[in-house]
Amino acid sequence: MTSQIRSCVRGVGSALPTRVVTNHELAATLDTSDEWIRQRSGITQRYVAGDGETTSTLATAAAAAALKDAGLTAEDIDLIVLGTSTPDFTFPASATQVQANLGITKGVAFDVQAVCSGFVFAVTTADKFLRSGSHKRALVIGAETFSRILDWTDRTTCVLFGDGAGAIVLEAQESDGAFRSTGVIASRLRADGRHRAKLFVDGGPSTTGTVGHLRMEGKEVFRHAVGMVTDVIQGCLDDAGCDAGAIDWFVPHQANRRIIDASADKLGIPREKVVVTVDRHANTSAASIPLALSVAVKDGRIKTGDLVMIEAMGGGFTWGAALIRW
Ligand code: ACO
Repeated sequence: MTSQIRSCVRGVGSALPTRVVTNHELAATLDTSDEWIRQRSGITQRYVAGDGETTSTLATAAAAAALKDAGLTAEDIDLIVLGTSTPDFTFPASATQVQANLGITKGVAFDVQAVCSGFVFAVTTADKFLRSGSHKRALVIGAETFSRILDWTDRTTCVLFGDGAGAIVLEAQESDGAFRSTGVIASRLRADGRHRAKLFVDGGPSTTGTVGHLRMEGKEVFRHAVGMVTDVIQGCLDDAGCDAGAIDWFVPHQANRRIIDASADKLGIPREKVVVTVDRHANTSAASIPLALSVAVKDGRIKTGDLVMIEAMGGGFTWGAALIRW
């Protein structure tokens, strides 16, 4: 066993907008129903940002909660990596806004853009910084306000998404590198831009000069999702030298209950080991995994020493997974 640096989870936190919108509320103004939304996606409600709530305000609240949970202060942080596709502004990066809001004046802060895979990409990026020895403690955040890029007249997309933020604190610690030791054990990232047309936003600064709206071929996304995520999960398991039976908690991106169930079934992970929050949060893109982690840590399911698999797939397509000993 060789000595190495591992990125270890010190704390977790989350933040949700004040306003809850139920399926019934949507059905009052849209040709849809609670039954259709629940059957196809498992979603019963979502949180929607109101006046004064933005990606950076939610991200700042989640980050502050994660710092508190870790017993650390803002001065302890020298790296902020924020996964988002709905930044407050085209620039500067929302991560720098979070940095300023927390009063952090040292280190580096930047956004990563991988849509729903944003948190897995952010964890993997921060892990590489920490393991290189260049930085010591990272805030890794997933934060989104997808409500602001939805076409609220398009029932095929708007019923599926919500807003929120979640964060973890990762700390570089000396490790013996053993499978039983805490920290990020393995991660795999992928992208394939040929799938752009299946899930994209039809606007942007360099094309339309507008923010644009989310467009999705739902069936096509569904068709690719299970195979892609199980592929990177298997890669992580291979790197770690274990099989899916070793996973204590499976915390997938919360896009759709049917995708979550199909992925768990394909890997042979029993339903009681799967953390599901899509019913309450809907699809919050890059925020969905840290929101789910926060729920499962706070209710006592995820404990120190547990083996946690996170995975996501999103626009691009991008996809990835990370295996973390909590
Ligand atoms: N309410 C009522 N009816 C609806 C609604 C709605 N909100 N939306 C669509 N329908 C109708 C359709 O018009 C269609 O009617 P038709 O048969 O008369 O043409 C019918 O319901 C069936 O539509 P399908 O699209 O075939 O429904 P499907 O069973 O495929 O479910 C869904 C749609 C939920 C979008 C599914 O395809 C899915 O979950 N896809 C994955 C999407 C996803 O998870 N995206 C997130 C990816 S991550 C990211 O990066 C954002």
